[in-house]
Amino acid sequence: MATLRKEIDISYNKLQLKTQNKLKSFRKIHCLNETYSLRDDKVYFERAKDTYIYDYDGNKYLDFSMGAGTTLFGHASPIILDNVKDILDNGTIFTSPNMKAHELAEKLNKILYLDDFIFCNSGAESTSRAMRIARAYTNRNKIAIFSGGWHGGHDYGLVDDNYDIGDNSIVTPILKSQGIPPEILDTMILLPYNDKKAFEIIDKNKNDIAAVFIEPSQGSNPRDDMKEFLVELRGVTKKSNILLCFDEIITGFRIAKGGAQEYYDIDIDMATYAKTIGGGFPFGIIAGKHDIMKTIKEKSIFMGGTFSANPISITSSLSVVNYLLKNDIYENLNNNAKFLKESINNYCIENNISLRISNFGSMFRFIFTDKFIRSRKDRDKYEIPYEIQNVFYKDLLNNGIYIGSNRINFISTMHTKKILEQFIEKVIATITKLQKDKLI
Ligand SMILES: Cc1ncc(COP(=O)(O)O)c(C=O)c1O
Repeated sequence: MATLRKEIDISYNKLQLKTQNKLKSFRKIHCLNETYSLRDDKVYFERAKDTYIYDYDGNKYLDFSMGAGTTLFGHASPIILDNVKDILDNGTIFTSPNMKAHELAEKLNKILYLDDFIFCNSGAESTSRAMRIARAYTNRNKIAIFSGGWHGGHDYGLVDDNYDIGDNSIVTPILKSQGIPPEILDTMILLPYNDKKAFEIIDKNKNDIAAVFIEPSQGSNPRDDMKEFLVELRGVTKKSNILLCFDEIITGFRIAKGGAQEYYDIDIDMATYAKTIGGGFPFGIIAGKHDIMKTIKEKSIFMGGTFSANPISITSSLSVVNYLLKNDIYENLNNNAKFLKESINNYCIENNISLRISNFGSMFRFIFTDKFIRSRKDRDKYEIPYEIQNVFYKDLLNNGIYIGSNRINFISTMHTKKILEQFIEKVIATITKLQKDKLI
């Protein structure tokens, strides 16, 4: 058992030798940026095209991170870049509204069943500002979010469960980072995910809650069976005039043109978008019903920023929207995801392997258990240790497959069935190796 792990580690450590040496040549590393610094895998990439990503050592990997889900049409797609290149000579920032932003808002209004839009520069900026709008609109201070969720790295978004293994209905809110005033905890309510206890907690706190924020499918446990829960959540929030905000930063424009709102056919008050709709450029959107969004002006809710609605991000986003309005990509994309999931899951079932793919359309995740899980908490309860999961991911990387360190995977329109077949073959080879060694 130790030998296989050692062998995988040796190959892994050899992968980016040039990169490692280059890093050593810096007297001191001054850049402390991290993306999702959850794991020990630190891989550096130089360039990417379509479904492939290349490191500085010249290795080529089939990419399933796809810029954390931002590049729906593949890396460096001409669908986006042809338009962006065209405008670069005309100035990249005006710090004033531009006409294209209105064009984008008009088109979004036709797609999203929401009226008005604020353009931001990231997902985190969108959710933190959406929380501000909800608080100002309702004159209530608390925002409810769910265990297992993620709304970005701002102070409110860093309230999370401590994930003590146990009853799914019991959650313990903690601050996930130092440097945040403890008072922030008092402004948030943490709810158990996919658990009816959440509705009781909402009802008990109904006079304090401005909005409930939920990812219609959490990245930590992608799934497509949330309709009943979301419908009930809509009912409970509506009854108490609590706003319901879908955080569609991953699911928006990915599962369907109108995102999970369209997929589940649920009437929501607000939504946030980023990733896919930015076409690979920094972007975010707050969308809401007119009655709510008009309070931004009425109550002077601050929304500005140097790069807000900048011409590059707006042009990129318009390119995404224009393409989606002219082309139906979703049937093929979702069918490809289904093919991938069924191929791997059937193999694992037939061979008695405790591994499954769980997905919401083209967003998917490997779950290292054969048990049904309702939530991230269940996932933690039943999965094999992260340390062993990492052996699986390292072996995939050694074999030319890149899975992002947040372990959320995405298929783009460039991931053809043929490419997916190659991926399935490599995944099965890794699983077989690990099973033989009794690691999974
Ligand atoms: C559901 C969700 N909300 C918010 C965010 C934060 O977006 P960003 O990283 O652009 O700030 C993310 C990013 O992964 C996300 O998945």
